[in-house]
Amino acid sequence: MSTNSQSIEAILQADSIWFNANIITFANDRPYGTLENAYLAVKQNAIVAIGKLDSETLSCIEQSNAQCTDLQQRWISPGLIDCHTHIVYGGNRSAEFEQRLQGVSYEEIAKRGGGILSTVNATRAATHEELLESAMKRAQDLLDQGVTTFEVKSGYGLDAATEIKMLEVVKQLQHALPATIVPTFLGAHAVPPEYKGKADEYIDYLCDVLLPDIKKRELADTVDAFCETIGFSYEQVEKLFKSAQQLGMKVKLHAEQLSDQQGTQLATRYSALSVDHLEYLSNEGINALSNSETVAVLLPAAFYFLRETKLPPIQALREQQVPIALATDCNPGSSPCTSILLILNMACTLFQMTPEEALRGVTINAAKALGLLDQVGTIEVGKHADFAVWDIQQPADLSYAIGANPCVGVVHQGKLVLD
Ligand code: NIG
Ligand code: FE
Repeated sequence: MSTNSQSIEAILQADSIWFNANIITFANDRPYGTLENAYLAVKQNAIVAIGKLDSETLSCIEQSNAQCTDLQQRWISPGLIDCHTHIVYGGNRSAEFEQRLQGVSYEEIAKRGGGILSTVNATRAATHEELLESAMKRAQDLLDQGVTTFEVKSGYGLDAATEIKMLEVVKQLQHALPATIVPTFLGAHAVPPEYKGKADEYIDYLCDVLLPDIKKRELADTVDAFCETIGFSYEQVEKLFKSAQQLGMKVKLHAEQLSDQQGTQLATRYSALSVDHLEYLSNEGINALSNSETVAVLLPAAFYFLRETKLPPIQALREQQVPIALATDCNPGSSPCTSILLILNMACTLFQMTPEEALRGVTINAAKALGLLDQVGTIEVGKHADFAVWDIQQPADLSYAIGANPCVGVVHQGKLVLD
């Protein structure tokens, strides 16, 4: 059968068809992989046909029993992907924001026992329901801006009961929300008060007790850590990664955020999905990335909110063709941001990324950072029918606007979530 007759067959059997659309596919060689004046056909949870709208396909759409939507030249993009969030937490840290504005540094606040540990206290004290309710609100903000896949980390419990409580909340979000939600275990986010001065012992506890328990309960299959002077050392993270590897778990790392710890080189040796932050990434780190499959995840809202001045080495990453993803890093300390569209604008204005690079960062490259590129991140036949509909004139408008939300429709796995 020719491609066209296969498409005709798929259109006739589709459940829903979206036509008169301009589609950002990221699946051909044109800028944004665009396909203008096109249609997209969906059956069950998958994309079954996509192509130019010609007279033959139009008459076929008219005959089909599918639910048909004329998009009147609106734009479709792959559903957006937020590959790095901490949306489950208790309390907030606006008082620390005020301290930082008076000149106290993020590290200094952490060393005084605030920072991540203040959110740990609030998260331990919060009930499951309280955590769920506040996380739902943050998740809804993401969904409203076209997000169909997002990641959520634990890491504000740092004891078994609270880490499990956080990941159980993520499980509930998975059941409650029309989105693909990926949990990550971030037990090595900070040294908990019970282990003060005994970080090695805490790492042993994670490796011997908590990690196997998380795995057994099927609460997460990816492990993250904070490799930093105020977090964990190279050696401590390596020990954790070894245990993760033995359990068949994937790894990723908060790396080179405040200083160069060579975490990126370590992470690539363990085939990490991603390394995230990267303001202090060295040439050696860039080389390690370029010889690996690991994605560089940049977090412009954390850069902005911490008033960081050292830029991640964007041009070198670009030259070495390292895939760059972007994420909100939504968390109470360094990035209280629930707007993926603001991230696009910040990546362009603060990091001088192009609007196309920025959009790739929250679609195809974010999918890669989550190990989900075979399912999401582009508009292609066979992938999940995850997409957003935008009332914009051209793709760059998504990065250009500040504070607007041109999202007029969201489909997750073939189901209309928002219109
Ligand atoms: O990604 N850097 C470490 N973790 C978070 C911040 C956590 C916090 O301050 O609560 C981040 O920036
Ligand atoms: Fe983070």
